[in-house]
Amino acid sequence: MLRVAINGYGRIGRSVLRALYENGYRDHIQVVAINELSDIETMSYLTRYDTTHGRFPRSVVTRGNILVIGDDDILCFSCVRSDELDWTSLDLDMVLECSGSFSGRDGAQAYLDAGVPRILLSQPAAADVDATIVHGFNQHDIEKTHTIVSAASCTTNCLIPVLDVIKNFAGVLHGTTQTIHSAMNDQPIIDAYHTKDLRLTRAALSSIIPVDTGLAKGITRLMPELDGKMGCNAIRVPTLNVSVIDVVLRTEVDVTVEQINAQLRQAANAKYAELMGFTEEEHASVDFNHDPRSVIIDATQTQVVDGRMVKLLCWFDNEWGYANRMLDVAKHWAKLID
Ligand SMILES: NC(=O)c1ccc[n+]([C@@H]2O[C@H](COP(=O)([O-])OP(=O)(O)OC[C@H]3O[C@@H](n4cnc5c(N)ncnc54)[C@H](OP(=O)(O)O)[C@@H]3O)[C@@H](O)[C@H]2O)c1
Repeated sequence: MLRVAINGYGRIGRSVLRALYENGYRDHIQVVAINELSDIETMSYLTRYDTTHGRFPRSVVTRGNILVIGDDDILCFSCVRSDELDWTSLDLDMVLECSGSFSGRDGAQAYLDAGVPRILLSQPAAADVDATIVHGFNQHDIEKTHTIVSAASCTTNCLIPVLDVIKNFAGVLHGTTQTIHSAMNDQPIIDAYHTKDLRLTRAALSSIIPVDTGLAKGITRLMPELDGKMGCNAIRVPTLNVSVIDVVLRTEVDVTVEQINAQLRQAANAKYAELMGFTEEEHASVDFNHDPRSVIIDATQTQVVDGRMVKLLCWFDNEWGYANRMLDVAKHWAKLID
């Protein structure tokens, strides 16, 4: 049984805990502690009730600083700095870092220095982490000696399987992506100050807002042969959850819509079964809320222009899909731990 702590109990941290109980990961992984800046009663309340994902499927109560989920006791802490907490006493195998506050090796190293043996980051992180993993594509790159691993981003998890299929079938010369991403907690409801990005000062519910994305870097890290070949943009839109990537790829050989869709359907049934979906129905984003897959291909939107320009629409639940992938990576990593 892998003993983990969750650091940062926000959208991703709570989704990870919930996916653990809903999707069978609890048989392999136990959350023994959560560190979050909020108080335990609010943490308990937001575990029980979730506007996006609905009510929690188990009983959730508190006992002092313990969050009790069913029969499981989870110790809760509220420390801003990783070295304020006595991680050693928790006898942990891994911290699932879901606060977004630590992106580089240095921040992660502070955990290791404080007694955490391994850390799995819920973001692309700096290039000098031990490995960046898109589950289903390169989880076998994790090594026994690794201590700091990134589960990449939700967009990288969505796109890499798709690129893998198209590259293997028709080659990819270059391409562009536009991520249309639901709102996140780094946006205000009405205009407010933001330290890093002027556009993120603007009311989330009132605008379509262009934001920075590290997707091109994420692709390069997983597929170095596409370095400098992909241009990626992102915009946030006023929805609660579920996002989509509009992908345009220039292939090396002529293809047809039927061939591209056949390849993606085949991948969804075989190589990427359970991680990739394929649909020919008419959908809106809300249909993919709480979908655990990394990507769902909307085959009704596939286009091929002039033989070699392929356009695809790829849905993903940016919270739930990603939380499930984090647990997949943790579960895979656990197999390497004595
Ligand atoms: N949401 C998504 O769709 C998504 C998908 C994939 C990856 N991610 C990544 O996952 C990370 C978290 O995103 P999120 O959407 O879950 O954000 P979020 O909802 O804001 O959750 C982050 C939580 O961590 C807490 N926190 C901040 N600093 C902390 C610290 N030093 N120690 C302990 N807790 C701390 C925050 O508390 P306060 O609010 O009090 O600061 C907040 O409750 C980000 O790196 C994000 O890029 C997000």
